[in-house]
Amino acid sequence: MTALTLSTSSAATARADAVVVGVAKGAKGPVPATGAEAVDEAFGGKLAAVLETLGATGAEGEVTKLPAADGLKAPVVLAVGLGAAPAKGETYDNETLRRAAGSAARALNGTKKAAFALPLEDAEAAAAVSEGALFGAYAFTAFRSDAAPAKGKKGAKGGNGSSDPLAEVTLVGGKPRDKEFKAATERAQVLAAELHRARDLVNTPSNALNPKTFAAEAQAAAKEFGLKVEVLDEKALKKGGFGGLLGVGQGSDAPPRLVRIAHTHPKAEKTLALVGKGITYDSGGISLKPAGHNETMKCDMAGAAAVFATVVAAARLGLAVNVTGWLALAENMPSGNATRPGDVLTMYSGKTVEVLNTDAEGRLVLADALTRASEEEPDAIVDVATLTGAMMLALGNRTFGIMANDDAFRTTVHEISEEVGEQSWPMPMPAELRKGMDSPVADIANMGERMGGGLVAGLFLKEFVGEGITWAHLDIAGPAFHESAPYGYTHKGGTGSSVRTLLRLAERTASGDLG
Ligand code: BES
Ligand code: MN
Ligand code: ZN
Repeated sequence: MTALTLSTSSAATARADAVVVGVAKGAKGPVPATGAEAVDEAFGGKLAAVLETLGATGAEGEVTKLPAADGLKAPVVLAVGLGAAPAKGETYDNETLRRAAGSAARALNGTKKAAFALPLEDAEAAAAVSEGALFGAYAFTAFRSDAAPAKGKKGAKGGNGSSDPLAEVTLVGGKPRDKEFKAATERAQVLAAELHRARDLVNTPSNALNPKTFAAEAQAAAKEFGLKVEVLDEKALKKGGFGGLLGVGQGSDAPPRLVRIAHTHPKAEKTLALVGKGITYDSGGISLKPAGHNETMKCDMAGAAAVFATVVAAARLGLAVNVTGWLALAENMPSGNATRPGDVLTMYSGKTVEVLNTDAEGRLVLADALTRASEEEPDAIVDVATLTGAMMLALGNRTFGIMANDDAFRTTVHEISEEVGEQSWPMPMPAELRKGMDSPVADIANMGERMGGGLVAGLFLKEFVGEGITWAHLDIAGPAFHESAPYGYTHKGGTGSSVRTLLRLAERTASGDLG
């Protein structure tokens, strides 16, 4: 994990392999941003001209590396584009800073230490730059034979570590004696560590992560950070009547698990339940996915990873709220023992479900977990799932959909996500779509109309939420796994989607801002 410090030294005196400055896109070319003054001075006031000659424009995400001028301790200057400068009297929005810091950190992975001299108007900006730098300084090397072994892990060959993430980040102008700045960066470090826990889990291939080993990860983290954890194995699930989890998991040699991992606080007045879809591999089951649709399906546990990471973050930050995570873990495989299309499952709630399509498995494992979570009568439940391709068709690859049984809560979750730099959009729950799931043999079918497939899935889940409990559903199928070119702090692979939103929701609940 990258170390982060706040420093009072100037961009000129900071000891680092590179000093990062911001550059805005001005009407007549690049304009060095606040924080770059000392560097500009070292360039004789000609930093803008030098950057322009090098082809820099100040466009968002643009990275320009140049050798440092005399008078700078760092041998390299990295100028990162911030886009259009804010209007007079306004500051850069936090997500712009977060992404710029992320682009810079990504470009510096493989080096040791960087000093960030980006505009830090207030503690929120410091938080955003810290987060961006830490999120950008990420590399998943667990399965690279030439990477340095991670601490505590057996690594095979040592290697040159060239793919190692940036090890140290210093925020120049970071006001180390300012309480709010200090708190912001401490929170950012916990958030980044936990976001990376989620990323690592999503990036881990399914031959190295199954329901049992995922549950073991939860047990290990619970031990390390003082959380309470309970794991229901296949025997306990049978005894408890968890027909959804068992029905989905029965085709796999790796049986399902339901994990309950809980952070509690003596002064907590509210309890938030988080439920995550944890399909460690989604082959589709007997309704097998064709080639072209199964290559990234190790990511189908991203909801459970986000929930797990958030609960641990809440514990590490000592939030005055109870946060209970429910990880619905199963592997969806075809076999002689797999659930067949047409089979009827009796769910934990007692409802029966006709499984028309074994690839609509997420809603089956979530249904059991939602019913179980409801038994504890939390103040609110949020479930997170890579649930439907339909949501990706609707919202694209970077935006998750939010459904809820409470309009005000849906709006709150949406606003929180925007505030923390995660793109989301509120989606409706049209009642008329329910009849498409009517089954001639069971209480409900696991499929309905194709049109509005993401909404149909949400309507299915709603049936398993306890009476009177406020509930929201986040369909992160789009943003959970990034396949195109890296940008900002987003690398290829697992993104940690929804961790920031869930953590902020927990913090808001702790501070009594919510209902
Ligand atoms: N895990 C998939 C959804 C998904 C697709 C996530 C692509 C990430 C990327 C889910 O289990 C699924 O297969 N959903 C089906 C539902 C359908 C059979 C009703 C889908 O969306 O096609
Ligand atoms: Mn599926
Ligand atoms: Zn799935």
